[in-house]
Amino acid sequence: MNKNIEEALKRAYEGEAKAVLRLKVYAAKADKEGYPEIGKLFRVVAASEVVHGTRAFMMLRESGTTEENIAAGFESEEKVARVAYERFIQEALEDGDRAAELLFTQSRDVEETHARLYKKALDSMVSGRETSYFICEICGYVSEDVRPETCPVCGAKKEKFYAFDDSCR
Ligand SMILES: [Fe+2]
Ligand SMILES: [Fe+2]
Repeated sequence: MNKNIEEALKRAYEGEAKAVLRLKVYAAKADKEGYPEIGKLFRVVAASEVVHGTRAFMMLRESGTTEENIAAGFESEEKVARVAYERFIQEALEDGDRAAELLFTQSRDVEETHARLYKKALDSMVSGRETSYFICEICGYVSEDVRPETCPVCGAKKEKFYAFDDSCR
């Protein structure tokens, strides 16, 4: 593939991925401000951006077999936790920004648990074990099979955990 095209595809994929997150925040805000139709529109556009980003990513042909993808996922989670978030935490500490430090620390801790989940998933591929997941809406911590009394990462109460169902796309 031509280098410029590859670069354009990467930028499209990254730009669309960022837009999806941004639009979800806009949607939640619109709902909260009492504009559910606007919230819906933001979610619709986000769903459409998912199509664009996915097409660009697929054209880059960077995904492999599921086993390879789990290995890549594991590696990426570890790297994000140990390299990226560690550096962000240092920057927040140097700046004395407590809010940013808390966010980065909790995110790093959760990324480490993502890596563990992937490791376990590799074993489950063989055993075929079914797992249900509960996600902390405050810090993103993922709990397997049980809704915890309190979040081990951020201390949020049980009610802050929502059951993940596969329709949450
Ligand atoms: Fe992660
Ligand atoms: Fe949490």
